[in-house]
Amino acid sequence: GVTVAPDAREAARLVAARIVAFMKEKPDAVLGLATGATMEPVYAELVAAYRAGNVSFASASTFNLDEYVGLASEHPAAYRSTMNRLLFDHVDIDKTRTHVPDGHASDPSAAAARYEAAIAATGPIDLQLLGIGRNGHIGFNEPGSPLDSRTRVVELHSSTLDANRAFFPDGRMPHFAITMGIATILQARRILLLATGPAKRDAVVRAHAGGFDIDCPASALSGHANVEWIVDAEAAAGLS
Ligand code: F6R
Repeated sequence: GVTVAPDAREAARLVAARIVAFMKEKPDAVLGLATGATMEPVYAELVAAYRAGNVSFASASTFNLDEYVGLASEHPAAYRSTMNRLLFDHVDIDKTRTHVPDGHASDPSAAAARYEAAIAATGPIDLQLLGIGRNGHIGFNEPGSPLDSRTRVVELHSSTLDANRAFFPDGRMPHFAITMGIATILQARRILLLATGPAKRDAVVRAHAGGFDIDCPASALSGHANVEWIVDAEAAAGLS
């Protein structure tokens, strides 16, 4: 289903509230996490909920969707350091149970295969959080990604590079990433997709056109039984 919130802040609050409620039900949940600007207010809400004593991550495990290839994990734009900074450093999670693909591995394809195996060993993921790219990508599954794709090395599309260029002030931006595949994502028991702002409007419409369209990876979610889209009014404006 689709839940429309009046603005981005309320949409992020709703997502955080869903996660807090879920952690109460299942303290040892396996969470699938996303990065990106859309998620920043969600993690701020989770940190606030933790500080208020409303949630604990002490028994949780996490798997992030993706990571750039070739960045040191301490690089400020690496998703490992981003997750530490936004969430992991501020809550009671055991960092040894937080997983982000190893984008700095000497053999990134082998690291991708290891990541898929780690998800299979620890999972299934109970609750997967997703954002959406303006081209309809989920994780870094760009248009053209097959429905049966698994964690692998992918090349980023020019629109994705453009959307993230600001995080690389020295201009040295990775062109490859490791991402969970579409099939990996669809194995999660429950999925929450958060989309906010007018730049996501077209992707939201295309993902809801009905059935899987390989040119809009998020349309794959139509084949999953437990997906909630939480969108703000701007991102929802094209839905009838
Ligand atoms: C990030 C990820 C991406 C983002 C998407 C939206 O881990 O998997 O699919 O969710 O690119 O990014 P923002 O929120 O920056 O618009």
